[in-house]
Amino acid sequence: MEKYVINGGVPLHGEITVSGAKNAALAIIPAAILCQDVCTIENLPVSISDVRYMIATLRHIGATVRYVDKSTIEIDSRKVNSYVISHDMTKHLRASYYFIGALLGRFGRARVAMPGGCYLGPRPIDQHIKGFEALGARVSVEENAIVEADSESLFGNPIYLDIVSVGATVNIMLAAARAEGMTIIENAAKEPHIVDLANFLNSMGADVRGAGTDVIKIRGTENLHGCTYSIIPDQIEAGTYMVAAAATKGNVLIKNVIPKHLESISTKLIECGADVTEYDDAIRVSMEKRPGKCNIKTMPHPGFPTDMQPQMAVLLALAEGTSVISESIWSNRFRYTEQLARMGADITVDGQLAMIHGVEQLKGAPVKADDLRAGAAMIIAGLAAQGRTEIEDIMHIRRGYENVVEKISNIGGDIRMVYCIDPLDINNAG
Ligand code: EPZ
Repeated sequence: MEKYVINGGVPLHGEITVSGAKNAALAIIPAAILCQDVCTIENLPVSISDVRYMIATLRHIGATVRYVDKSTIEIDSRKVNSYVISHDMTKHLRASYYFIGALLGRFGRARVAMPGGCYLGPRPIDQHIKGFEALGARVSVEENAIVEADSESLFGNPIYLDIVSVGATVNIMLAAARAEGMTIIENAAKEPHIVDLANFLNSMGADVRGAGTDVIKIRGTENLHGCTYSIIPDQIEAGTYMVAAAATKGNVLIKNVIPKHLESISTKLIECGADVTEYDDAIRVSMEKRPGKCNIKTMPHPGFPTDMQPQMAVLLALAEGTSVISESIWSNRFRYTEQLARMGADITVDGQLAMIHGVEQLKGAPVKADDLRAGAAMIIAGLAAQGRTEIEDIMHIRRGYENVVEKISNIGGDIRMVYCIDPLDINNAG
């Protein structure tokens, strides 16, 4: 069993470099099987576990994957020969369901076990299925466990999403890239990783227009080819370090970012009293005084991202006054507040609202990472708190933060990973 141990209370100072975007990578990796060729993917966060599982899944269906360097892989999908992906492969992460859209595009059929992933509340896939059916696929879900989709041929069609869904938008784009004719996704998600997927597909010879707006048009083609593509920087990793800089009253230059993607986060940090300076591909965040309160409502892009909500809650837990966070995407994203309470935070949750009464100081404590972003919040809280914090269940954090210990240590944070004996592990029962 591994834990992070943090001795907090040290302001972060220096420079940190953000990795490629996890959620773009998770869409682009399966997209590579839409061609029977070789794709080189650069700026990939190769060492996070979500990416490792996606690469393992590619190999499982017959692709050859070669690590070129620490942020580049080469995917050769000429020998992909299976449209079946078992629960062993999909249980680790949500994005494994992108193989449904990609396999439908490649073979006209897919048999993929239902995905795992962070528990943030119910995560239905009705909009994905609606999209596949609109393209002419027959879709069934066997005993709530396996999605089976097949079609003689896929045809482009208009699809209106009842809910703005990142996952459904991605999955439909993947299948539609090889469908005959034009697919129009209305009420599409507009996140930066949707635009990145569109750019990747276009680099493969696809015709995708409108990504980044709520209407995406995809004219399908059979003739996709390999390409070399560099993934955008991770918006949420960047935002996490921005908040960490502010919460520790530090001064950090965050490099390899697209400042435009960070606007909603920058705006809220400035409202709390931070100084934020934008450069072409970097952003500096500094904070000298106690943060002020602010209210946040999470929204689909370009609104404030739900994936930054737990991290911002830490800053607000230290703010002067009472702030309100309203979570509008996930029904169960406040579990981390119980962990923050162990550190002295004063937060009352009522359904989708959290009232955060700022305290002057957090105190180090043993806590756990309930999910990926909850884990990121625990790291920020540990760095800002006085004393020692131990974070358990760090496998969640390793899903999405590359080299987190090394990166934070380089800007002065006292964080290390320790191995400890799991008392339930009978092999170590003494
Ligand atoms: C993506 O999840 C991200 N994951 C999540 O990031 C992120 O929290 C979320 O988008 C919202 O921004 C990836 O990109 C891999 P959705 P996704 O479909 O695609 C409902 C992180 O920490 N819905 O946009 O699963 C759904 O229940 C992660 O990096 C339906 O009702 O999210 C939710 O309330 C965790 N039916 C809302 O839509 C559907 O068919 C948005 O979900 C699909 C979704």
